[in-house]
Amino acid sequence: MNAYRIEGGRPLAGSVEVPGSKNACLAIMSAVVLGEGATILNNVPDVSDVRIKARLLEKFGARVEWREGSLFIDCTELKQGDADPETVRAIRTSFYLLGPLLGRLGSAKLPVPGGCNIGARPVDFHIKGLELLGAKIKLDEGTYFGRTDGLVGSEIYLDFPSAGATQHLMASATLAQGNTTILNAAVEPEIVTLADFLNRMGARIEGAGTSTITIQGVERLDGCEFRIPSDRLQGGTYLLAGAITRGDVEVTNVYPESQTALTNKLREAGADVYEGSDSVRVRAAKRLKAIKVKTMPYPGFPTDMQQPVAAALAVADGTSVVEETIYESRIGHIPELNRLGAKIRLEGRSAIITGVERLSGAEVEASDLRAGAALCLAGLAAEGETTVRNVHFVDRGYERLAEKLTALGARIERVGAGQTSSR
Ligand code: EPU
Repeated sequence: MNAYRIEGGRPLAGSVEVPGSKNACLAIMSAVVLGEGATILNNVPDVSDVRIKARLLEKFGARVEWREGSLFIDCTELKQGDADPETVRAIRTSFYLLGPLLGRLGSAKLPVPGGCNIGARPVDFHIKGLELLGAKIKLDEGTYFGRTDGLVGSEIYLDFPSAGATQHLMASATLAQGNTTILNAAVEPEIVTLADFLNRMGARIEGAGTSTITIQGVERLDGCEFRIPSDRLQGGTYLLAGAITRGDVEVTNVYPESQTALTNKLREAGADVYEGSDSVRVRAAKRLKAIKVKTMPYPGFPTDMQQPVAAALAVADGTSVVEETIYESRIGHIPELNRLGAKIRLEGRSAIITGVERLSGAEVEASDLRAGAALCLAGLAAEGETTVRNVHFVDRGYERLAEKLTALGARIERVGAGQTSSR
């Protein structure tokens, strides 16, 4: 069951509830090993990256149980684990376990991380930060080995406001002796969520959500109960599904302020946007107009919405430019959108999109998570039948995508790879 078959050309309308945030949940699932005792996470998104992460935690002695949308994780009996490279490579955030494991156990080893194929994605900021906290890290035959006689607080300046490095180092510093300051920290909502989670465990973190975060080290952290906030990226994708199909879609259980980069761009493109206290609605009665989009660290336009917005602009009136500044090769969607009749060419890091009146169905292949989402959106707008293959990438970050789109009036079904022709 590795493809979506979509009968496109139908405006989507209705309301969709957005599940918990994958990226917030994954960061928390690294930090959870810092706590002794049981943690209960509510509103956990049922996506494959979270399931893989849960399996990884078990390798380090955590007791993990799913309880109807909640995850029960007990890290009391934490141990040195031997995580297999396949599991670790499957998700980028495996690596964010290194610092917290060092904080709890004094030593840890982890194979090099993986994640979506969207660029080189080095971990140098993470290593440099952990070394400043007093860890000794070495890389040997594809595995990082770390050890410490006790982490100590430090001042860490990030060369770029990396979301992952900010999360990893903020969590690692909670059990360090003394104070840590992270300068040029990322300010994504997921950083604030992680700080809230850690503080509930007993950490002392201030400034999360600003570019300077201070962490006062504490002796120990305990398990806690915590609700994962909603996923701004799944939310944004459904808003774009409304826009690309000239429909009227409302997303609920969201923070409208975390969608402002996208909603302002949609307004600029001519869509109507309505914001409630925990909902956003996008109505696109007419064809969108071409716009320019440039990805930036939060609160700028999110790189994760770059590929989906390119799909929407493929049918806009005029020539749009979408510039990717965060990842050097988040471009796997471009040749596939062109197979659906889009006219997109790449100039350096910019996609030059000459809007076409309509896309037409074809068989296309997802190359990564958000490329897969972009292709599903394009398939919803395209006339005729579109098959999106390799949707295991989509499963990484979208909970029950077909079901939610069907509720909005889409015709989309999951089919086995054998039911599609080979390309
Ligand atoms: N970077 C370095 N060195 C480092 C770390 C990052 O050079 O040690 C660079 C990266 O190569 C990239 C930039 O810094 O050019 C930003 O990367 P960042 O560390 O912020 O990204 P990340 O933490 O690896 C998370 C999300 C991504 C999302 C980015 C940007 C998770 C699991 N992943 O990745 O989400 O695109 O932040 O917001 O939280 C997705 O959900 O589809 C996804 C890829």
